[in-house]
Amino acid sequence: MADNSKKPWDGRFTEATDAFVESFTASVEFDQILAPYDIQGSIAHATMLERVGIITDNDLALIKSGLEGILKDIESGTFQWSVSLEDVHMNIEHALTVQIGDAGKTLHTGRSRNDQVATDIRLYLRDQIDRISAKIRHLQTGILDLAAANIDAIMPGLTHLQVAQPVLFSHHLMAWFEMIDRDYCRLQDCRNRVNVLPLGAAALAGTSFPIDRTLTAELLGFDGIAENSMDAVSDRDFAIEFAAAGSLIMMHLSRWSEELILWTSPQFDYIELPDRFCTGSSIMPQKKNPDVPELVRGKTGRVFGSLTSLLTLMKGQPLAYNKDNQEDKEPIFDTVTTLLQCLTAFADMIPAIEPKKENLRNAALRGYATATDLADYLVRKGIPFRDAHDVVGKLVAVGIAAGKDLSELSLDELRSQSETICEDVYSVLTLEGSVNSRNHLGGTAPEQVTAAIERAKQRIA
Ligand code: ARG
Repeated sequence: MADNSKKPWDGRFTEATDAFVESFTASVEFDQILAPYDIQGSIAHATMLERVGIITDNDLALIKSGLEGILKDIESGTFQWSVSLEDVHMNIEHALTVQIGDAGKTLHTGRSRNDQVATDIRLYLRDQIDRISAKIRHLQTGILDLAAANIDAIMPGLTHLQVAQPVLFSHHLMAWFEMIDRDYCRLQDCRNRVNVLPLGAAALAGTSFPIDRTLTAELLGFDGIAENSMDAVSDRDFAIEFAAAGSLIMMHLSRWSEELILWTSPQFDYIELPDRFCTGSSIMPQKKNPDVPELVRGKTGRVFGSLTSLLTLMKGQPLAYNKDNQEDKEPIFDTVTTLLQCLTAFADMIPAIEPKKENLRNAALRGYATATDLADYLVRKGIPFRDAHDVVGKLVAVGIAAGKDLSELSLDELRSQSETICEDVYSVLTLEGSVNSRNHLGGTAPEQVTAAIERAKQRIA
């Protein structure tokens, strides 16, 4: 880091900043991530200033080429960041003025770091929302491929972690698709409120210069312009909303991880996770651990923590800008990094899952998964549902005593509880009979799940 003891704001100061205070108040170590957005915002601001006649076209040309050169230096790692210049904004502005002289000093006309930083974060978040959204789509494509390729696999659907009713493996996967799809929609919705221009609010009250905010918004691709200058520089609700949408994504990935961890355990043994997504144990040679889902489940805490940090950061702040807001950066950045990493892991891992179809089937055959089908059968023969429920409950007890599934009970055994039961009962007691019968929108019949996969493909196309 270079030493730059002259501060852009120290005109009224009579003593140098305390060394600890200087590093305590600086954000450049972490906000330098915003550099490309800061430069993008500055070029748009300067372009607008020139267009309305506040700076000359010569100054604009110098500012533009100077900032473009600085961006190259930053990208190549040769830029000298300085803690004494506090943050990304003053580092870049200082470097610009060193390079192009007085023209660089005109850039900050009609602007404050308060509206500058709010603009940078919004540009950054808009970009990251687009990257995260693309990852979600990638993951969704993987889910659809896996679901379509295994439409014949039947597994136990669980409630209370116990066998409940047979479902298609693909139907189960499509449940995750729906959750992730709502996450996608939430991000898009959040993007609408992120994509609003704060620039022009200046420190808090606006500026005495005849700026053209519509032009700046157009240049930066913002869909709207913040209506109130004080709101524009102070609130970070858009970032909180992003962290909330991110928390829901992580909540979904975490519960899905929990399921994958169970499914790969020898106790369940429902799926094979390829070796490349697992690691071994340094002491137990037999182990193949599902580290990727475990880490995703673990990382969920960081994002929930960021949401809490941001909410807490905001709750005590009177209008307008307060330095507290500098603390918004790290939770936002960490949320972005975590989401991108976890979604990348899932997008790669999910299509590589190999369902163990025999095991899934056998698991569905244990636990009387077709008991509801038998009750429904009795209802269709005229028995009220509550009575049918009771009959089947007794038959389950018969099965447990005999160590047999319902489909393995003889007709005599079945009829011991209800004379209504006939030979045709066996078609509803099979796994196929059970899933095929749930043939309505949202049900697990293969016809319905195939159609759901098709509709989902259209939705994300
Ligand atoms: N680094 C500051 C932040 O992140 C930039 C804005 C500073 N403005 C100020 N008046 N101190 O919020």
